[in-house]
Amino acid sequence: MNKIMLAKDTYWVGKIDDREVPFHRLILGKGTTYNAYLLKTEKPTVIDTVDMQFGREFVEYLSELINPEGIQYIIINHTEPDHSGGLAALASRAPHATIVCTSPAVNELKEMYKLHSRNFLVVKDGDTLDIGGKTLKFKETPYLHTEETMITYCMEDKILYPCDIFSTHVASNTFFADEADFDITDDFIGYYNAIIHPHRRYVRTLIQALEDLDVQMIAPSHGYILRKDIQKYIDLYATLSADTIDDKKATIVYTSLRNNTKKVAESIKRILEENQIHVSIFNADKSEKSAILESIKEADAVFIGSSTKYADMIGNLEDVLKDLKEMNLEGKIAAAFGSYGWSGEAIEVIQDYLHETNMNVQSTSHVIKTTGMTHVEFPVRVRFSPNNEQLKKIEHSTTFVADLLLSAI
Ligand code: FEO
Repeated sequence: MNKIMLAKDTYWVGKIDDREVPFHRLILGKGTTYNAYLLKTEKPTVIDTVDMQFGREFVEYLSELINPEGIQYIIINHTEPDHSGGLAALASRAPHATIVCTSPAVNELKEMYKLHSRNFLVVKDGDTLDIGGKTLKFKETPYLHTEETMITYCMEDKILYPCDIFSTHVASNTFFADEADFDITDDFIGYYNAIIHPHRRYVRTLIQALEDLDVQMIAPSHGYILRKDIQKYIDLYATLSADTIDDKKATIVYTSLRNNTKKVAESIKRILEENQIHVSIFNADKSEKSAILESIKEADAVFIGSSTKYADMIGNLEDVLKDLKEMNLEGKIAAAFGSYGWSGEAIEVIQDYLHETNMNVQSTSHVIKTTGMTHVEFPVRVRFSPNNEQLKKIEHSTTFVADLLLSAI
């Protein structure tokens, strides 16, 4: 077999999948690759694996380069099964290998692949691992694109292993972008738009972090390995992940029994304003309905919340909601929120009213289906006064709306 070498003792050991692969509700017309890498050092290390259905084939291919029993570390940058799917097959043939991943990944991998009795090494931002001749440095990249993700950087080879980030979905026997017989830029951007863009807030954080690393090659887990014009590809991500729209407006309308829903409303306001979105906020019990409706007409996003009392909304809010379904509010983003003590029925009633309008009503189900994000929840439900954990939840949901408002894609 031809060995695909990235650097001394560093090999591609992945799988080319030239089917029209169903993936994230897309069909990958050009197929894809699942790139994994072997660093054949004194403590041999594998970085990522392949899709679940190719696990045995992956281990057979790897075995042509090394006896798997000698593998000391298996790095899992991301648990989604197109990259961790070969772990069960590999772990069974590499009984001495320690699995290296972030803290949130440990239980996922144990449960997915029945690895409860295996050794795990949990790494954090900035941790390094000496693999005997090479040193790996880890950076956590939470929510890019799932909570447990990290990237790995080989300090001696100056190679970045960012898993999904900087990937392309193209099945090709040409492994390096500079050897492809066409310009891969459109595929690179297409991948970014399809998979990465909803998470672009975290791309911006990553780009900043990369400034501290001397990256000479990017070896992602799908498609082409980038070893020329590296900065061009990083700059493309920087450009694509930037906010492209400004001058957006949001209206928040609430009623509050004991100020807890008011605190949620004010948190939403603060987070939107931190994103340079102009916010108008109304307590429906203390404001003219006409002023509220006028503001909603002008807004790009509308947040509506109430405390729950006797399983219903409180105050004048329903009067406002009844008028909304008579208005043309097409194109606006809408979200419900509220504080509650027992079941929070008011929040669901608001959500029902919003669904009767022609606004784009946010729901947890829709977010999961379109982005895979599980940390973003709609409606925003807070039990009693928001604690730190709930404030974080409000932040995730509100920044999601801000990101929708601030990008044309
Ligand atoms: Fe290529 Fe998130 O998996």
